[in-house]
Amino acid sequence: MSEVPIKQINELSEYHDQSVTLQGWVAGIRSSGKVAFLQIRDGSGVCQCVVEAQEEEAFALAKSLTHESSVRVRGEVRGDDRAPGGCELSVQHVDVLHVAEEFPIGRKAHGTDFLMKNRHLWLRSSRTTAILKVRHVIIQACRNFFDQRDFVLIDTPILSPGAGEDTQTLFKVDYFGDDTFLTQTGQLYLESACMALGKVYCFGPTFRAEKSKTRRHLTEFWMLEPEIAFADLDDVIQLAEDMTCYVVAAVLERCSSELEQLGRDVEALKKISAPFPRMTYDEAVTMLRSPDLRARLDAELAADRETLAERVARHAEIKEQLKGSMKKWKVEALTTELEELSDSIQELEQDLETRPQHIEQAQAFEWGKDLGGADETILSRQFDSPLFVTDYPKDVKAFYMKASETDPRLVRNMDMLAPEGYGEVIGGSQREADLDLLVAAIEAKGLNPENYDWYLDLRRYGTVPHGGFGLGIERTVSWLCGLTHVRETIPFPRTMGRIYP
Ligand code: 4AD
Ligand code: MG
Repeated sequence: MSEVPIKQINELSEYHDQSVTLQGWVAGIRSSGKVAFLQIRDGSGVCQCVVEAQEEEAFALAKSLTHESSVRVRGEVRGDDRAPGGCELSVQHVDVLHVAEEFPIGRKAHGTDFLMKNRHLWLRSSRTTAILKVRHVIIQACRNFFDQRDFVLIDTPILSPGAGEDTQTLFKVDYFGDDTFLTQTGQLYLESACMALGKVYCFGPTFRAEKSKTRRHLTEFWMLEPEIAFADLDDVIQLAEDMTCYVVAAVLERCSSELEQLGRDVEALKKISAPFPRMTYDEAVTMLRSPDLRARLDAELAADRETLAERVARHAEIKEQLKGSMKKWKVEALTTELEELSDSIQELEQDLETRPQHIEQAQAFEWGKDLGGADETILSRQFDSPLFVTDYPKDVKAFYMKASETDPRLVRNMDMLAPEGYGEVIGGSQREADLDLLVAAIEAKGLNPENYDWYLDLRRYGTVPHGGFGLGIERTVSWLCGLTHVRETIPFPRTMGRIYP
């Protein structure tokens, strides 16, 4: 079958009425006495392959296949408006590469734990592949953005002798008898490259021994960090805003089918526009405690409780309907709806259970605390675009942030909170460029300035105002895909409770 060209499924529309060979995996199979339908996927798309009984050999082989078997099929491309991609393959020849054992992931709903244990196989699902494609586009867009602006890519080390962020979240590594750590951020090294090249960025894996089991935390995640010289906090915010708009536009332009597959509300993404709202930490605290916000949150809570009641009623109604007899396709449609409803009911129930407490906490927020995940959710839900919160209390932020010139309790930092409740996706700041203030800040955090001597050198030899930020790739993917948990945004998530597969 070698004379027939091998094509990818996403190229088929260019080969109407021609013979091609596809190679892929069986994503679905249905057959009757007269015809077998194979759904073949090859990573570029899915194609319905039709094998008629008169093609005796191909038909027999097709019928022997199982879910996830690997095959090569040859046939003629036929236009069909109803088929995804606008065509299907009329098969003459089937070449079986491997008949798969019974695939552990079936059509019935599986729990997250089971799916995560089988992550190496779950990657093949249409949902996961859609998420991974969006992840790819996001990373590519970030890199394009900085490349177009003449930033130089710097690869910062992964093994690091000291803390870049919170000393509580370091992973220790035995380095020939000495303690060293997996890096929490490339920033400190990036700052020194910034003093060499002006505009730089790094992109790599970062590690935090987070003991938190939230939907936003991984122990290994990827961060994209730019750093710019001769810049203040406003420049850093501007850069983050421009980059975010660029990335959102790229995802909307290039991932429409993936977003649709994921059920993402793209209208919410289309509403994102510059300039993004900005407020200081002080203003955020005032907002969290305000009676206005309280009234709005209570009204939302009541509305969501009603939605929950409606969904529960619909769930019961379907269960009742399914007891009667009906056509097979109707059973399938109702079962799918039932599964989706169960998921959304469970999600909403969990959310509603904690929300009243979060509203109370927001009302009682004490100045000086860091914003928690729930506070960020509340704030970010008040706006259509991402929100910049600036000038946090020094005590809750990292040592390297520049002290405010107007209020010594504050630092010149920003967090960018993604809308729809997603919360912090970017953290950044202007850096402390003054040697004495930086040494004092390091000591105030209980760290030893001697360990940072090389970093302090940057303040000894031609120090300049500079700053940058870190974008968490997984949180960005979660937000842009509309997911509820970061664990689905990376091929093999690492969390406190999971290191396998
Ligand atoms: O706010 P963070 O800790 O900032 C830094 O690391 C700075 N050194 C960055 C810089 O200024 N160059 O982390 C930056 C971003 C967060 O906004 C979040 O998106 C992500 O990294 N992030 C995490 N993502 C997943 N799991 C975790 N445990 C994360 N911790 C931070
Ligand atoms: Mg942060």
